[in-house]
Amino acid sequence: MVKKNTIQYFCQSCGSVYPKWQGKCDECGEWNTIVEEKSTIAEGYSKLGGKFVEQIDFVPLNGNLNNPARITTGIKELDRVSGGGLVPGSVILVGGDPGIGKSTLLLQACASIAGLPQQPECYYISGEEALDQVRIRARRLGLADAPVKLASATDVENIIATIDKTNAKVVVIDSIQTMYLEAAESTPGSVSQVRACAYELIKLAKKKGFVLFLVGHVTKQGSIAGPRVLEHMVDTVLYFEGERGHQFRILRAVKNRYGATDEIGVFEMQDKGLMEVENPSALFLAERRGNISGSCVFAGIEGSRPLLVEIQALVGLTGYSAPKRAVVGWDSGRLSMVLAVLETRGGLNLSSQDVYLNIAGGLKITEPAADLAVAMAIISSLTNKPMPADMVIFGEIGLSGEIRAVSQPNLRLKEAGKLGFKSAIVPLNHTKDKKLAGGDLQLHEIGNVQKLINWFN
Ligand SMILES: Nc1ncnc2c1ncn2[C@@H]1O[C@H](COP(=O)(O)OP(=O)(O)O)[C@@H](O)[C@H]1O
Ligand SMILES: [Mg+2]
Ligand SMILES: [Zn+2]
Repeated sequence: MVKKNTIQYFCQSCGSVYPKWQGKCDECGEWNTIVEEKSTIAEGYSKLGGKFVEQIDFVPLNGNLNNPARITTGIKELDRVSGGGLVPGSVILVGGDPGIGKSTLLLQACASIAGLPQQPECYYISGEEALDQVRIRARRLGLADAPVKLASATDVENIIATIDKTNAKVVVIDSIQTMYLEAAESTPGSVSQVRACAYELIKLAKKKGFVLFLVGHVTKQGSIAGPRVLEHMVDTVLYFEGERGHQFRILRAVKNRYGATDEIGVFEMQDKGLMEVENPSALFLAERRGNISGSCVFAGIEGSRPLLVEIQALVGLTGYSAPKRAVVGWDSGRLSMVLAVLETRGGLNLSSQDVYLNIAGGLKITEPAADLAVAMAIISSLTNKPMPADMVIFGEIGLSGEIRAVSQPNLRLKEAGKLGFKSAIVPLNHTKDKKLAGGDLQLHEIGNVQKLINWFN
């Protein structure tokens, strides 16, 4: 096969390819992420030349299944996010900002799995930290005696040749951006390098049937490829989120061939490492102070789990010609919609007001079911009237101002009851057969935003 050397321009954020350099990526909209790379047109991808073709076999849909048992990591939150344990032969990309806790989590997972009765072989390969650094972390986490096999290496050919001879059950590559494959001929961390290295490692994981973890740093800028360029190649993508100032860490499945997406695992970063959080609602509400206007508690669902979070709004007369809208933890487009509905259908004057919205605790919420809670927080701040501290709220808002039913209302109410809440504002349109089970909660069913506004009068 003739190797074709070409110069191409890759966006390091999303992996888009361009024939010429340009300042902004058309695909993901990032600036200064496009970098020249010599590419031996994805060596790993096309080894067509010089090979005899074979017939492929077709089989019926209904045949014997060959699914080996999942490996339970012993870290419940990780098991939950991965869909009930790790599937042998699967590849899991763990992405997140530097310093968020990826290495910590994977070292803890390795130690926990290596300690299982069957003593699965776990390999932790660090391309980033020296052996001593990893050992110091292991000591701090109280895992120094775990039978994890540790190496510091970056040459993927060496790694593959070595792991191929083992009976590995779990292999961690920390991080994929530090790995290097000579054949790929571009600099370590570039899109072609990262993809070529991942491709070869994935091939080995599939062949040998071990679980492969690839750590990928989210990069803000520059010439290091981000984890997004690998998302299509792996089975599962987990992102580790959290705010610097908070100790909460959320592990979120954004893609999973072996389980539900949008499932989250909640951890708390402590001296001794990442601790599982048994009751995230209590954690997220811990810093809440009652009787303050602009605050309300949203009864949400993340994945399969109910989660109560505080939503805070601050509304005040603007000093600008165009009022400011700033959002942390929610979709800014969705906020604009809620504001427009409150103005047009509810008659509130918000066009002269700055609006700040914050999801307390650093959580990111994507559910439309939070609309009503957001509206409530805004009205509460605008009118400077606090809502009852023992009340939760959920519901989706439609463009005509109607409040729509949302999924799993009873699960939300049950969680609220469990945490001692006494009442709830909920959508009206539940029919007879879809009875709401409020338990001890007093339910206020409302049908449109005007009713919500009246609540404060
Ligand atoms: N001595 C320490 N005591 C407590 N926490 C620490 C200590 N050293 C590091 N950490 C925590 O661990 C985090 C680093 O986590 P790490 O797993 O290395 O992140 P990543 O691999 O995602 O870059 C730091 O941001 C800090 O919160
Ligand atoms: Mg690390
Ligand atoms: Zn891009």
